[in-house]
Amino acid sequence: MRPSSLVVVANRLPLDDNIAPDGACEWRRSPGGLASALHAILQQTPATWVGWSGAIGPSPKLPSIGSLRLRPVTLTEQEQSGYYEGFANSTLWPLYHDAVQQPVFQREWWETYRAVNQRFAEAAAEVAGRHAAVWVQDYHLQLVPQMLRELRPDLLIGFFMHVPFPPPELFMQLPRRIELLVGMLGADLVGFQREQAGHNLAQLAQKLLGAEATDDAITVGERTVRTGAFPVSIDVAEMRALAARPDVVGQARQLRHDLGESKRILLSVDRLDYTKGIEHRLTAYRELLRDGHVKVRDTVLVQVAVPSRERVDSYRDLRDRIEGEVGRINGEYGRVGEPAIHYLNQRFDRSLLAALYQAADVMVVTPLRDGMNLVAKEFVAAREDETGALVLSEFAGAAAELSAAFLVNPHDLDDLKQTLLRAMEADPADLSARMRAMRAHLAEHDIMAWARAYLTALDHTGRLARRLPRT
Ligand code: G6P
Repeated sequence: MRPSSLVVVANRLPLDDNIAPDGACEWRRSPGGLASALHAILQQTPATWVGWSGAIGPSPKLPSIGSLRLRPVTLTEQEQSGYYEGFANSTLWPLYHDAVQQPVFQREWWETYRAVNQRFAEAAAEVAGRHAAVWVQDYHLQLVPQMLRELRPDLLIGFFMHVPFPPPELFMQLPRRIELLVGMLGADLVGFQREQAGHNLAQLAQKLLGAEATDDAITVGERTVRTGAFPVSIDVAEMRALAARPDVVGQARQLRHDLGESKRILLSVDRLDYTKGIEHRLTAYRELLRDGHVKVRDTVLVQVAVPSRERVDSYRDLRDRIEGEVGRINGEYGRVGEPAIHYLNQRFDRSLLAALYQAADVMVVTPLRDGMNLVAKEFVAAREDETGALVLSEFAGAAAELSAAFLVNPHDLDDLKQTLLRAMEADPADLSARMRAMRAHLAEHDIMAWARAYLTALDHTGRLARRLPRT
C-alpha cells in the first residue's frame, strides 16, 4: 500500500451494511459525516481510513471509496464485548454524559480496550507516510494518540472528541484516569465540540499530571498540546439536495396525509440511547395529554428510535421501558386508527428521514446530554421553506450555535411541557425569523468548514492546508 499523507482513525469505517434485494450484504459509503467532509480533501491527498467494519471476525470484502483507501481493523467477539460494549460504551460513554446512567467499571475490560487501541495505533503507523497527519476520532480510541507518538514520533497527530468531555468531578471517578489522560495528550491538537471541555481538560492536566495548562494549551514535558473547540456539523448541501428531491417532497406530502392533514406533527429522531432523554419527553407528552393541553384528534408525536448497541444491558432495559410507556400512552389516550404516538424502532433510510423532517411542525430534540446532536442541524437544513419549530435541549452541543431554537432544560418537566406548547403555538412570523437565523448559521458552518478549521489548526506547518480546497 502506498503511504498516505492523511490518515483518519475511527472506531467505525465510513460504511453502512445494507441488505441487497437478493439477501446479500452490500457495503456503501455512510451518507454525510466525516467521510463526505474529507471527500474533497481526499481527492487531492493519498488518504487512508483505519476503522472497524462493525462485523465480528475477519473483515468482509470492502469497497474503496473513490480515492480513499480503507484499512479494516478486525475485532473478535471477546474484543467487541470488552472494548466496544464494555469500556467504551458501558464505562466511558455514560461517564462522559454526566453519568445519566451509572457507569460500569469492570477491570477485565481495560486490558482489551488497551490492546485494541494498540492495534488501531499500529495499523495507523503502518499506513501513514513520513510526516503524515493522523486524525484520531472519539472516546473509543483515547489511548491511540500517545501510542502512535511512541511508534511514530515524526507524525502530526490530531484527536477529536465527538462526545462531551466531563468536568474533573466526574472524570476523577475513572479507574485508569491517568493513562486515559496521557493517552489523549499524545496528540498535537485536541479538539472538542464546546469550549468548556478544553477548560475541563486543563484542570485535569493540572490536577493529575501537575502540568502547566491554560484553556487552550497544555505543556507535557517538552511538548505543548493545543486544545480548542471545533463544533462539528453536517453536509448541509447534501441534506438540502435530498430534501428538494421531488420523490422526497412527495413522500413528505404523503406522510402529512397519512398522519392527518390537519394535525400538528411533533417529531423526534434519536438513536435509542439513555442520553437522548426519550423517557423524559414521553413523560412530558403524557402529562400534556392528561392535562388536556394536547388532544389526540389534533396532535400526533412521531418517535423514531433507531436501534443501537443492542447487546448492552442498559440499552435493552431502556428499550423495554420506552416500549412499555409508549404502549401505556397509546392505550390510555389513543383512538381507533389514531394513536397518540407513532413509535418506530428501525433503521431509517435517509430520504425517508428528510421527508419526515419536512412533514413535521415541531422537531423535538431533548437529550439530557449530547456532544453535538446532528439531527437538530439536519432538520434545519431540510427546511428550505423556513417553517417549523425546533425545540432543543440546552445540554446538546448544538444549543451553543442554534440559539434561535426553543431552548429547554429537559430535566425540568414543567419547562419541557411549557416549551413544547410555546413551540406548538408560536406565531409563523416568529418561527420563520428563528429558522432563517439558524439556516444562515448552518450555511456558514457546514462539515467542510469544520474539517477545514480543525485540519488548518492541526497543521501549523501549512502542509495540509495548501491541499484543502477553497470553499
Ligand atoms: C456517537 C459517537 C460516535 C458513534 C455514534 C454511533 O455519536 O460519538 O463515535 O459512532 O454515537 O454509535 P455506534 O456505537 O453505533 O458507533
